[in-house]
Parts: sequence; structure tokens; C-alpha cells
Amino acid sequence: MCGIVGYVGSGAPSARPEGVVMGGLARLEYRGYDSAGIAVVTQDRAHVDMAKKAGKLVNLGKELAEHPLGEATAAIGHTRWATHGAPTDANAHPHLAADGRIAIIHNGIIENFSSLRAELRAEGVHFLSETDTEVAGHLLAREVLNGATLADAMRAVAARLEGAFTLLAVDSQEPDVVVGARRNSPLVVGLGEGENFLGSDVVAFIEHTRTALELGQDEVVVITPEGVSVTDYAGNPVAREPFTIEWDAEAAQKGGFATFMDKEIHDEPAAVADTLRGRIDEHGRLKLDEGLIDESVLRSIDKIVVIACGTAAYAGMVAKYAIEHWTRIPVEVELAHEFRYRDPVVNVRTLVMALSQSGETMDTIMALRHAQQQGAPVIAVVNVQGSTIAREADAVLYTRAGPEIAVASTKAFLAQITASYLVGIYLAELRGNKFPDEIAALLSELDSMPEKIQRVLDTSDTLREIAHTMADERTVLFLGRHVGYPVALEGALKLKELAYIHAEGFAAGELKHGPIALIEEGQPVFIVLPSPRGRESLHSKVISNVQEVRARGARTFVIAEEGDVEAADYAEHVVYVPQSPVLMSPLLTAVPLQIFALELASAKGYDVDQPRNLAKSVTVE
Ligand code: M6R
Repeated sequence: MCGIVGYVGSGAPSARPEGVVMGGLARLEYRGYDSAGIAVVTQDRAHVDMAKKAGKLVNLGKELAEHPLGEATAAIGHTRWATHGAPTDANAHPHLAADGRIAIIHNGIIENFSSLRAELRAEGVHFLSETDTEVAGHLLAREVLNGATLADAMRAVAARLEGAFTLLAVDSQEPDVVVGARRNSPLVVGLGEGENFLGSDVVAFIEHTRTALELGQDEVVVITPEGVSVTDYAGNPVAREPFTIEWDAEAAQKGGFATFMDKEIHDEPAAVADTLRGRIDEHGRLKLDEGLIDESVLRSIDKIVVIACGTAAYAGMVAKYAIEHWTRIPVEVELAHEFRYRDPVVNVRTLVMALSQSGETMDTIMALRHAQQQGAPVIAVVNVQGSTIAREADAVLYTRAGPEIAVASTKAFLAQITASYLVGIYLAELRGNKFPDEIAALLSELDSMPEKIQRVLDTSDTLREIAHTMADERTVLFLGRHVGYPVALEGALKLKELAYIHAEGFAAGELKHGPIALIEEGQPVFIVLPSPRGRESLHSKVISNVQEVRARGARTFVIAEEGDVEAADYAEHVVYVPQSPVLMSPLLTAVPLQIFALELASAKGYDVDQPRNLAKSVTVE
């Protein structure tokens, strides 16, 4: 959570530091929007100049317009998702220490902050906020006032902190320096000419440079206009190889759409196509992006465990149906935050798949580490290059969905399904579960999906109209069966997080075991109907479920396959999607539900890109 930006530059190319930092914060605001703040180091070494405001970045922008900050070469900026202390001006970052000499910003949770605060209070330190961050500022102050450089101070302080943190700090006595440290929270370095950048992720500086460095666990970075140096907490130099950011700056813009979410839904055909592109070699083998899990290990695995949260977990649930069917390997899907605490049975013969758009979800990181401690090989399916999960996994298959800025995940969901399917197809090929022609057929089915997703997008207008008539609904239910079940869960999640409407997804077969009691006159129910060309009984069983809820007064909205002649008889409205093999259908049926949630939230006047109480990357447990 929380977005962090740091910048140093001497004059051109990127003009005023606070402009660069405000631009970076705008692109990182998806990470949290409870408050925003910025600090610059004025060249006269007199003080750190700071502005901070509760609420969205726009409030900080107004404040800066009224009270501009002084000339500077170094700046840090923060956009907050509150953990310790309410979203007020006082709790907004940066926090000052040493009478305004030091400014600090933080992402994460300092778990030992209570004891550190008690220690500092005993020394007479007066705290101005309720945050855990402020202790780190005062600890830094103590070091620099004793003569340490900011970098040495940061190394000493970071080594004392427990929990998860990315810290950036500036010192008025070192006006061309920003220092950062990280543990369990992300920090990426952008390399420019005569200027350098720090960001929670690469979109913070993608407009200015596409050359970046990952910062490893427990490392400290110092950026000046001339260079970047990285050390561990003991001060030993660490060599890091730069990488080229594959995304371009335009991908992080709205591209003519009113919202990032709408744009990202329209990116879905490309997200799936890009995730497939060049991934299979001439022998039908999957090409991983980074790392390698030995083929003999993959041949010997007897179980797959998917660890993920939220939408990524629903992508994992979809993948379970396909991977089990293709490989005959049992697949468990586990919410990452539950996994670690229930003593899961995982060993060297368990392949763990960590699914994450951001690659920074703390629950998933901790589950990944737990799996590795048990000896399990971990393959990451991640969207953000250089993220923690990508770095720590044994192998990585990147989803190439491009930057997903809207807090609600859309294109990443489709890309995660696609990438997980590639893993399944690869295992099926490797372990001899499928003949080469069967593998080729599966890959060709996947290949045909982007064009079909585009057709769903091209025919979504009536759904948009329907959504606008439903702004006053208090609850909406979603039903699905087989791969339609996780799609129903995802449809409900989208509606909850965007439109703040109570929504629940059910396995259609479960309805009669209880949830049908919820149905009353006028209750809207969305049903993801299986193809009539698949297992006939499944289609007719879900049709029966539709009839059962209609008989009790429900309004039914059905997502059905083109050519399903029965669907219209049981629905107030049918959204048709192109025909596809059953296992491919979630790549189509999820899309209308995403659009419905987007439109309903828009009809209610809500900010679909930044829904209340949420943040894009959940970097706390
Ligand atoms: O970055 P991740 O894929 O690991 O994030 C996982 C969830 O936090 C995320 O999918 C969340 O549920 C979204 N708000 C869903 O729209």
C-alpha cells in the first residue's frame, strides 16, 4: 500500500523535482489515496520544505498551487493507505524530525514501533502523529545529530526495525541526496542522466526513464544526480544489474478512456495475446522468463498448490479446473493469508504457483516463503517486473498485461488465467499427459481468445444500459458452475469493491443448500450459464437453477454462449459471448461482469479507479 517516489536531478532534463514527484505520485495513487505529501530539500541547506494534505492527491495539488515549495534538487513524495492513525493531515507523510532537518516517508508496517516510541519518549522526543513511521524519522535524527551521514543513519536505523518497510529520507544538510531502505516492501531505482529516481514501482518514473534496478531485501540505496549506490545494512556494496522496463509510458495513461478501469478492460484482448506471444518454443515447451525449475523436479511433483489473494485467487480457481483436467495432478487453491497459518502439507514434490498482479502482496510473499522453507519449488505468475514475488520465486512467468492502475483487477485476471493455462499445458506436455497434437490444439484455442474477447467488448452496450437502471439495488447475486463458479465469485467481488453493493457469488449447485432463501421478489441474479455444447447435464442443471430463482421472483441476467437457444426463455436479459471450449470460457464470461460493475459504480457516481478503503497493492499482512 502507499506509493513512494524519490527524485534527485540537477536542473534539466526533468525540471522541478516536485513536478517529477507529483507526476510519479499521480501514477502511484492507485496504491493508496488517504493522504499525500511531498518534501523538498532547498539548496540553502536551511530546511526541508514540506506540504501534505489528507485526502486525494488533488488536495495536495491545490495546496502546492497556493503555497509553492522552494527551489530544490531533491524531493520525496508519498501517497498513503492508512494503517497507523486516521487519514488526517498530521498523520500524512512526510514526517519531520530534528526540527525539520530530516523528512521521511514510509510504506509498510514497523512492527516494533511501540517499544521504539517508548525509548524515544524516554529521551524527551515529542511525537506529532499516530504513525509508526515517525519513530524511524526520530531514530534517523538521533544518528545524524551525532554526526552520521544520512546513508549511515539509514543503515543503522533500518537494521533496528522489524516488519515491512520501504523508507525514503532527505536531510537538509545533504541537499543532493535521497536515501532509501527496504525490507519486505518494494523499492525500484530508475536510472536517468543527471537525475535518478526511486519508486514503489516502475510506473513512478516510467515517463522519464526505462532503465531500472531492483533493490534487494535489506538493502540501502543512495541516489544523487550523478549516481546510485547500493549497500546492505552493514554497508557492504551490492552490485545490481539494470534491466529495461518493457512497459512504455503510454501504457500507464488513460488513452482516451474516462477511467483507467475502462481502458484496462479494453486492453484485455492485448493482455491475453501478449501473455501468449513467443511463449512456446518449437518443441511446444513453455519458455519461462526468469529462473528455471528443473524438468526432473516438474516430472516428480504430485501436487500443485496455487497461493493468491482476491481476484488472483479466483484466477487460480479457474486454472485448477484446467490444470487438473490436462495433467491429472491434483491442484489446491489456497488464499495466501490462510496457507501459512494452517501448517499446509507441502514438500519438494509440491509445485507452488504464486499468482499476483503486483508481485507485492504481502500475504502471498509470506506464503511463498513458507512454501520454499518446506522445500517446494515456486513458480510465480506475476505482472510487475522486478517485484518481490518475481524476485523470490524459483521461476517466473510474467503476465504481460501492462500496467494495471485501476484498483479493481480486470485485465490481470484474464492474463493470470492465460499464464496459468500455459503452465498447465507445459506440464501436460512434459509429463506425457497429452499428445503433441492435443497440445497444439489447446494452444490454438488459447490463441483464438483475444479476438473473441474483443467481440465481447464490441457488444457490451446493452449491459452498460442495464447497469444504469440498477443503481438503487441493495444486493446482487451471482451464480456459476464449474469454471463459471469462480467467474461468479469474481463478478460479485467486482461489484462489492466498485459499487459498494452487497454481492455474493455461489456455486449454482449450492443454491438449494441454503442461499436460495435469499431470493425474493425483484432480487437481481446474474447467472454464468455453461455451454449447451459442453456436458449437456451441466447446462440443463444450471437452467434448472435459473428457473428455481425465477419461480421465487428473481430478475435473471444470463451470460450465455452464442447459439444457446434456451437462454432467452429464462432471462430478463441475456448477454451472449462467442462460442469457446468450456475451459476457455472464463476469458469471455468474466468480461461482461467487469463491465457491469464498472457501469453500475459509474451510475452511482463513484470513483471506479480508486474505490473507498482499498489500495492496489496490499503490502501489509
Ligand atoms: O497484486 P495481487 O494480484 O497479488 O493482488 C491480489 C488482490 O489484492 C487483488 O486481486 C484484489 O482483490 C483486487 N482489489 C481485486 O480487484
